[in-house]
Amino acid sequence: MPLIHFKTISCVLLALGAAAVAHHASPPSLDKRAASSGCGKAHTPGYHYHDSNGNFSVVSGDVERYYAVQVPEAYDADHSYALIFDYHGNSDNSTIQYNNSQYFNYAAAQQYLIVYPQGYNRSFQGPTYAVPGIDDLQFTTDLLAHIESDYCIDSDHVYASGKSNGGGFVDTLACSDHGDSFAAFAMASAALYTDLNRTACNKKRAILESHGDKDTKIPYVGKKSSHGGPLPNVGEWVTWWGERNCGDDANADATGDLGGYNMTSYSCGNYENVTQHYHFAQLGHCWPDAQGDNYDAGKLNSQFCSEVRVVDYTSVVLDFFAKWDLGSAPGN
Ligand SMILES: *[C@@H]1O[C@H](CO)[C@@H](O)[C@H](O)[C@H]1NC(C)=O
Ligand SMILES: *[C@@H]1O[C@H](CO)[C@@H](O)[C@H](O)[C@H]1NC(C)=O
Ligand SMILES: *[C@@H]1O[C@H](CO)[C@@H](O)[C@H](O)[C@H]1NC(C)=O
Ligand SMILES: *[C@@H]1O[C@H](CO)[C@@H](O)[C@H](O)[C@H]1NC(C)=O
Ligand SMILES: *[C@@H]1O[C@H](CO)[C@@H](O)[C@H](O)[C@H]1NC(C)=O
Ligand SMILES: *[C@@H]1O[C@H](CO)[C@@H](O)[C@H](O)[C@H]1NC(C)=O
Ligand SMILES: *[C@@H]1O[C@H](CO)[C@@H](O)[C@H](O)[C@H]1NC(C)=O
Repeated sequence: MPLIHFKTISCVLLALGAAAVAHHASPPSLDKRAASSGCGKAHTPGYHYHDSNGNFSVVSGDVERYYAVQVPEAYDADHSYALIFDYHGNSDNSTIQYNNSQYFNYAAAQQYLIVYPQGYNRSFQGPTYAVPGIDDLQFTTDLLAHIESDYCIDSDHVYASGKSNGGGFVDTLACSDHGDSFAAFAMASAALYTDLNRTACNKKRAILESHGDKDTKIPYVGKKSSHGGPLPNVGEWVTWWGERNCGDDANADATGDLGGYNMTSYSCGNYENVTQHYHFAQLGHCWPDAQGDNYDAGKLNSQFCSEVRVVDYTSVVLDFFAKWDLGSAPGN
């Protein structure tokens, strides 16, 4: 068992922003959780994706949809696991996102089942280039029901993450009733095609986003028109979520430069840092990785991924998720 490879200690040291909360990384103890109908079924640990036998697929809206799954190394059919749906970027696939977030490398993620929905024609709904009529919100709800009937899941600890088009879809999900089953939402380089103004969304949600100023695909400052449609200014979008979550009570907090990045957060009442944003000066269109060995880091240097290793975003995401469940998160 490759436990020695888990990125626990190194991320705490490298991810300065996450260090303060790193020791909260584990969800509540397993035996206190509500169990789904999939408890009792055995599963093989490791990464599995769809094949020609129809494994790892579900029919949604009359369309066969695919997914991949990362089963924890010590999967126990009688313990309920937290769950993350992790959405890939446009033209990517489940396996690419598996290698971007690399949850499988983290000790804390061994308490989660990770599911990687596969976009229809490699994209998710929202941008104009997505295949018309494909309903990824319904797919998400159908896949969640399917996963809960097949694996032992704690329904109070269900989360969504994604990159680029997949990150934008996580925002679309957060703004939808389909997002009511999810406790928190995290994105990197999110392509926010469906969220262009403060009133476009009326949900309260725990939201974490990361974006770099050298992102030329989804520019930080937004774009009036692009391949997939107009995009908002990311900084403005963060303030919208601050207001959506906290209204006039929003307590905004911005750090100074933390070494190539800074953080902005909004809090109110019990919702500490319920909207949290990481802003990188030199980062491109990437899932930030302190080790520099994920899929994005393997891109050409001109994409500005491997050069920026100041934050290990996956450990930030796991710490953020560990702070929220369906009972404590806003919107429910
Ligand atoms: C895929 O399906 C085949 C045929 O139904 C089955 O024998 C096989 O065990 C399945 N593989 C996995 C990984 O579930
Ligand atoms: C995903 O894309 C990669 C890179 O193009 C490819 O090697 C891999 O086979 C694909 N995986 C799946 C599950 O489609
Ligand atoms: C699938 O995506 C490709 C571009 O990646 C596009 O050319 C094609 O039209 C798309 N197919 C459908 C059915 O939309
Ligand atoms: C805000 O966005 C929504 C949804 O895209 C749109 O219907 C509405 O007209 C926009 N409102 C303003 C003031 O631009
Ligand atoms: C909340 O976010 C701010 C940065 O905006 C940070 O300084 C602070 O440590 C965070 N608090 C917690 C509890 O994570
Ligand atoms: C945060 O960092 C970005 C990128 O370097 C910079 O544009 C912005 O002014 C910084 N914000 C604060 C509050 O320091
Ligand atoms: C992830 O992608 C990088 C860059 O392409 C590659 O070097 C590495 O071997 C991949 N890791 C895994 C676990 O697939």
